[in-house]
Amino acid sequence: MLRTHHCGELRIEDEGKEVVLCGWIQRSRDLGGMTFIDLRDRYGITQLAFNMETDADLCAQARELGREYVLQVKGKVTERSSKNAKMPTGDIEIVVTQIEVLNEANTPPFTIEDETDGGDELRMKYRYLDIRREVVRRSLELRHQMALETRKYLHDKRFLEVETPVLIKSTPEGARDFVVPSRMHPGEFYALPQSPQTFKQLLMVGGLDRYFQIVKCFRDEDLRADRQPEFTQIDCEMSFVTRDDVLETFEGLAKHLFKAVKGVENIHFDRMSYADAMKYYGTDKPDTRFGMRFTELNDLAQQKGFKVFDNAELVAGICAQGCGTYSRKQLDALTDWVQRPQIGAKGLVYVKYNEDGSLKSSVDKFFDQDQLKGWADAMEAMPGDLLLILAGETHATRKALGELRLEMGNRLELRDPNTFSCLWVTDFPLLEWDEDTQRFYAMHHPFTAPIKEDISLLENEPGKVRANAYDMVINGVEIGGGSIRIYDRPLQEKMFDALGFTPEEAKKQFGFLMDAFQYGAPPHGGVAFGFDRWCALFGGSETIRDYIAFPKNNAGRDVMIDSPSGIDEDQLKELHLRVLKP
Ligand code: AMO
Repeated sequence: MLRTHHCGELRIEDEGKEVVLCGWIQRSRDLGGMTFIDLRDRYGITQLAFNMETDADLCAQARELGREYVLQVKGKVTERSSKNAKMPTGDIEIVVTQIEVLNEANTPPFTIEDETDGGDELRMKYRYLDIRREVVRRSLELRHQMALETRKYLHDKRFLEVETPVLIKSTPEGARDFVVPSRMHPGEFYALPQSPQTFKQLLMVGGLDRYFQIVKCFRDEDLRADRQPEFTQIDCEMSFVTRDDVLETFEGLAKHLFKAVKGVENIHFDRMSYADAMKYYGTDKPDTRFGMRFTELNDLAQQKGFKVFDNAELVAGICAQGCGTYSRKQLDALTDWVQRPQIGAKGLVYVKYNEDGSLKSSVDKFFDQDQLKGWADAMEAMPGDLLLILAGETHATRKALGELRLEMGNRLELRDPNTFSCLWVTDFPLLEWDEDTQRFYAMHHPFTAPIKEDISLLENEPGKVRANAYDMVINGVEIGGGSIRIYDRPLQEKMFDALGFTPEEAKKQFGFLMDAFQYGAPPHGGVAFGFDRWCALFGGSETIRDYIAFPKNNAGRDVMIDSPSGIDEDQLKELHLRVLKP
């Protein structure tokens, strides 16, 4: 080894030891008589001391060294005269007797500090420097620990980790595939997996009983803070299980991770149907850290002469506690906020419930005090509260009100990142109608089983069929999703039919799975978790990029290696490809 200790290790008890440390120069301070260097490695920082009086040459050499130079230093652990209680190694310093410069370094393009002066793009371009920052390193350490604890838990429950192929045929998960041209088969392409869905089902047919994989998945979709084109799933499947068996097994995983990684115990999972999630929160991934559930006001607010309400399919509101003192300016700003194109509400009706019990609304012309009081009672409002009401087409109104609820949750600081509220959302619709293409799509994927009682509706009222599918939602983030699967050929054929596949198309795309179902497929079900999302949630961040060593930017580019990029003519020829210039 080039070192005897690392830079986070030495304490006052080590005083007097001769040690060798290696690391990078975080910063140096020249105080005339003394020069100090902070030496950093993955484990921490140790102060190096050089004394002009005792060794002028060495001190002069130390002064010449720049930031991020790589050093090996020999010296003696000594008690510091001025201690730094904020650093674990702050009681000691190394009085250096020998320096070896292992490598020089250019001045980094941004400061290697928690609060760096480097912008996103710059840090992505020099990600290896960014990784030297403690915050990034900690995120990657958290990720490692999450993976380790996941493996421990699942191994204990007898799950087998099995790798599935990366060069496959398209799996329909609703996003676009990334494809890879085949050199040996002109005009043919592999697809990168959007998930190992069909393979894990085939592993169940293969009798492996319990499978998991921490696996890269690829989806060519628009990027957001919680989406990357390549991301990682904890992908799992189990045989001979009911929905509740799956939910309990993975509640167990969640509880294990909360305890082992976050030190949080007493995690409890609620369950909520998709229908209720939409009705009370306007989203299929409600943030249940706070209440502010929707109250539907159609019965109380319609047919009183206010056209906006009368013409609306839904009138619904939320009660923002203690916001009754909002000024006109604040209410106007909130109205502008809901009218932004991203939210899309036409307007906002408010009712202030004053401390004296009177009510003041933006629709006083149409509603008297008793009527407004009726709304306030329905919404369980108290004096001092503010009612915020939207109206319009049901789906759009719920969506906008859901956004408004989150915004008010933020303003009222009800979304504490250190509080965790866990939920299973169940009973999703099996199919979703798409107006543009005039056909149904599987809301989860085409292998999801319908709820037994609803199977008879599949032929004539497919839109009403509920799926035996579930999502794990924590603090409003969709951490994972899965379902009990179809495992018999006739039902799978029926499902493909409902999705508008001809038998020939179904056979061409999924013949291998339907064939497998004819060789004794066990009942099975599973789930996949967004591993990056789970890490970000535990790390208290909204963006998953921080938890990926080498992420892509918002345009899907890796700016460090400059990818995607063109390939040369010979490569194109070999792959039987021609690039059409845009
Ligand atoms: P689903 O498509 O819901 O299900 O994906 C499972 C989980 O993966 C995460 N996720 C993503 N994370 C980061 N970037 C992305 N682009 C991205 N897309 C999805 C989410 C999501 O909940 N095969 C099924 C699972 C099953 O049925 O067992 C599947 O992939 O956290």
